[in-house]
Amino acid sequence: MINIALPKGRLAERTLKLMTEAGILDNVTEAGRKLVFEDGKSGICYFLVKPWDVPVYVERGIADVGVAGKDVLLENSPDVYELADLKTGRCRMCVCAANGYRDDPSRRLRVATKFVNCSKRYYASLGREIEVIKLNGSIELAPLLNMSDVIVDLVETGTTLKENDMGVVSVIYDISARLIANKASYRFKRGEIDSLTFRLGEVITDA
Ligand code: PRP
Repeated sequence: MINIALPKGRLAERTLKLMTEAGILDNVTEAGRKLVFEDGKSGICYFLVKPWDVPVYVERGIADVGVAGKDVLLENSPDVYELADLKTGRCRMCVCAANGYRDDPSRRLRVATKFVNCSKRYYASLGREIEVIKLNGSIELAPLLNMSDVIVDLVETGTTLKENDMGVVSVIYDISARLIANKASYRFKRGEIDSLTFRLGEVITDA
């Protein structure tokens, strides 16, 4: 049996579609409240978890493999193998600010973000002192209400920024969904995991 942790929410539809196209899952959707699905015939069990929790399940070996955003991997640095770039869920992790914002480099920069570690790393590489304000969502609100100077957040279509009169100041990372594996599972179930990676590879497109 191979256990797969898949992300709920924004990435779910795209991930489930990819898994179905690769013939790994049988035409499944996120509909309903069921969280664990077992297919005795294919020997696959998958469960739907919060995107930030996928690496936790994989690192602990509860899931042999999983699909996680590169943003979550960069932020939490889990001890897992990254097997493939699924080239879906593409976006960029950016520094963004209100249009017209002027930085004063002599002042400590207030940065609102979910990505505390990524932000610290990025500004440390620039030698810039920052104060991080950790938020869990609606990050764009922080500069609008003058709680922060900038935000570090994901930008996909750019609609949220546009609608809030904000723009990208700099791009930190290109992000996409990645197939990850538990290190011990990869040793003991290498054949199954390689076959799954190969099948996914056949349906991954650059689109
Ligand atoms: C994400 C991200 C941005 C938005 C970017 O938020 O944090 O706010 O999507 O997407 P766009 O460029 O296509 O507008 P999400 O919708 O996941 O919700 P959150 O604010 O609760 O993090």
